[in-house]
Amino acid sequence: MELHLQGRSAIIMGGSRGLGLAIARSLAREGVRPCLLARDENRLRQAAHDLAAESGITPHWYAVDFSEPNSVQTCLNALRDIVPETDIIIGNGGGPPLGPATACDPALWQKETATMLLPVMQMTDQYLPGMRQRQFGRIIMVSSTSIVEPIPNLVLSSALRSALASWGKTLAREVAHDGVTVNTLLPGRFETDRITSLNAIRAEKAGIPLSEFRRQKEDGIPIGRYGQPEELGHMATFLASPLAAYITGTCIPVDGGLLHGF
Ligand SMILES: NC(=O)c1ccc[n+]([C@@H]2O[C@H](COP(=O)([O-])OP(=O)(O)OC[C@H]3O[C@@H](n4cnc5c(N)ncnc54)[C@H](OP(=O)(O)O)[C@@H]3O)[C@@H](O)[C@H]2O)c1
Repeated sequence: MELHLQGRSAIIMGGSRGLGLAIARSLAREGVRPCLLARDENRLRQAAHDLAAESGITPHWYAVDFSEPNSVQTCLNALRDIVPETDIIIGNGGGPPLGPATACDPALWQKETATMLLPVMQMTDQYLPGMRQRQFGRIIMVSSTSIVEPIPNLVLSSALRSALASWGKTLAREVAHDGVTVNTLLPGRFETDRITSLNAIRAEKAGIPLSEFRRQKEDGIPIGRYGQPEELGHMATFLASPLAAYITGTCIPVDGGLLHGF
């Protein structure tokens, strides 16, 4: 299938590894020039180098820690020179820490709200006027199945992602006439660094070996295995393409059948 993405550009937040890098890779294979954002400069440099070797497209990259105050504005100022316009924004990043709903730490909620919500919203604000003018734009957020079925002891993730998805749904209606679509992907469990470290914490807490914990988790996924990051990359790339012009305001699970409801 020809996706008609050749020559487009994308900003991939959290693009140096895991799901973000898989999306960048999949887009680059279709001729999209990505700009990777993340904290670790060495990892960004390596990811950009590998991507260029694979796809023949040299990505831009910029190191930023979105949990730092004022980092978003500094990043946006820098991006004005590096990527003056873009067609695709992938709203992705690191996840928040584990924790229950019973113990509310206001400072932590404020910090995570600023880190998880504001960068995507402000990034969109910067590039939306150009997208609307060109009558083409794609805002794709990497969220979680937890917005449909909250995951125990992960309240920050479930609650704040729900807020971001709701913002996306509202935005989708506002820009639908201008060729801009806004969609939210709901990954289930994918083989990435984040899942490996979360599983290690949970296995230790449960007092069982990591391999046993993982087997139990895989048993709970109807397809019987974790997803490979490129399987999310394919979906994001399709949504980014002109072929997906009629899909907007959606939340799409990519979860091997994990969710019980629709
Ligand atoms: N993997 C899954 O199964 C799964 C399932 C549901 C939801 N999710 C969510 O999907 C997102 C991506 O997951 P993943 O598994 O790919 O995570 P990951 O492997 O930890 O990758 C996260 C990416 O975000 C960057 N990042 C982290 N904190 C950042 C910050 N403060 N500022 C800027 N960049 C930052 C990381 O690079 P640096 O560390 O260098 O900054 C990296 O590029 C996460 O929000 C995760 O919670 C994942």
